[in-house]
Amino acid sequence: MSEQRISRRRFMQATACAAGATLASRSILLDPGPSYALPRPAPSGDTVRMGIIGVGMQGSGLLRTSIGLPGVECIAACDLYDGRRELAKEIVGKEIPTTRQYKELLDNKDIDCIVAAVPDHWHKQIVVDCCNAGKDVYCEKPMSHTVADGFEMIAAEQKNKRIVQIGSQRRSDIVYTKAKELYERGEVGDVCLVEAQMGRNDPCGAWEYTVPPDLSPETLDWETWLGTAPKKPFNALHFTRWRCWQDYGEGIPGDLYVHLLTGIHYVAGIAAPPKRAMSMGGLFRWHDGRDVPDSMTTVYEYPQFRATLRVTLNTEAEEVTRFMGTRGLLEIRNGELTLTPQSGADYAPCTPGWPRKMRADFAEGWHQEHQSSPGSFSTVESTRYYAPPEYNDDREHLWNFFESVRTRRPSVEDATFGNNAAICCHMANYSYFNGSIAYWDAGKKKILGSAAS
Ligand SMILES: NC(=O)c1ccc[n+]([C@@H]2O[C@H](COP(=O)([O-])OP(=O)(O)OC[C@H]3O[C@@H](n4cnc5c(N)ncnc54)[C@H](O)[C@@H]3O)[C@@H](O)[C@H]2O)c1
Repeated sequence: MSEQRISRRRFMQATACAAGATLASRSILLDPGPSYALPRPAPSGDTVRMGIIGVGMQGSGLLRTSIGLPGVECIAACDLYDGRRELAKEIVGKEIPTTRQYKELLDNKDIDCIVAAVPDHWHKQIVVDCCNAGKDVYCEKPMSHTVADGFEMIAAEQKNKRIVQIGSQRRSDIVYTKAKELYERGEVGDVCLVEAQMGRNDPCGAWEYTVPPDLSPETLDWETWLGTAPKKPFNALHFTRWRCWQDYGEGIPGDLYVHLLTGIHYVAGIAAPPKRAMSMGGLFRWHDGRDVPDSMTTVYEYPQFRATLRVTLNTEAEEVTRFMGTRGLLEIRNGELTLTPQSGADYAPCTPGWPRKMRADFAEGWHQEHQSSPGSFSTVESTRYYAPPEYNDDREHLWNFFESVRTRRPSVEDATFGNNAAICCHMANYSYFNGSIAYWDAGKKKILGSAAS
């Protein structure tokens, strides 16, 4: 048994003992969605033809997974770097047209939809252009690079009646869906506090990716890659490690909080940004020229609960999201869900510091009233829910997108959902970089440094 499991079991036993109960536990295997049914050949009219924009770290995985789904075909790929266009062909396993200009994909009438996995500073323009060209689009998280971007993307989605799905895969994950069901059923009572955390401890995890040896202004269209970012000479590190700079990414919040936030928003049915956010953090270790912190904590004020997020790039730590309620604990740890009920009631008379006779007299009445006898124990049954080992929520999320494209079923993670999660990321950064509380002004659609009067 691993150390993690031992300490976890000890915690559960302690919880049970504190509640005057014995511990029992059971495990339930969750049933994956239809994307895991045996591959069925899709009727030819049902095939979705996708084009991909951005075939880097995430795009290459999305491409591989997409074409592994029944009834999905990739017929063109776009990337600004030659190596990635070569990679697209390798993955698809046949000659497909590739280009540096994504507008060629948007003009191609044979393409039904686009999967876009470009750095964050390009998300808005690509989503808006896709929608205006009549293409449905799967766009990676975080949806926006700025608050204003997000509202432009929603407008383009709604005006053109397009399917827009943001790529935070926890939104389609069966473990989170189960957590949502239990949360909504009130299994843990009123949730007043949510905690979420994760940590990494290696250069790759801290975004220090290796620069491809052939990267140069000849093999990469650097000017276009910069997009709306400030103009600067070719910089291989900026291309390869763009998450380290605010011109292209949003640091820890945009890269990692967004996953935790998506899970929290989905499970708890959050449909608006929180009222306030307050961050602390710092750059302690990765002094490689980056302008974002490597450790960050943020407290969010949602109407129904407060949420604390903690991410570090300096210590490996499990990904955990914990919904703490008046009737127990709902915890997602490394992709597994555990429900541990708590009664929220005294299990013995609460008479600290009373003399013996007074205590005994009170205890007699208390036990009659509570129909319990001294030393009696009830059973706390914790339930663990887990997905099959081969389960992959990217696959489930992509499947949901292609089903929406096929059937016009609304997107499971539309631009409004994606925008709310992204605004939380911007609030965290606003607070950190301005050293103030970040207030969300829903009327102005802006983050402010003090409450609106
Ligand atoms: N959902 C997840 O778990 C997850 C994981 C990793 C990354 N992501 C997201 O995926 C996106 C891409 O991240 P990455 O790590 O794959 O980046 P990357 O740098 O590895 O790849 C991005 C690719 O996009 C290309 N590109 C950039 N602008 C382009 C443009 N205008 N037209 C065509 N191609 C363009 C680049 O040349 C590059 O090859 C980011 O938004 C990131 O946050 C999501």
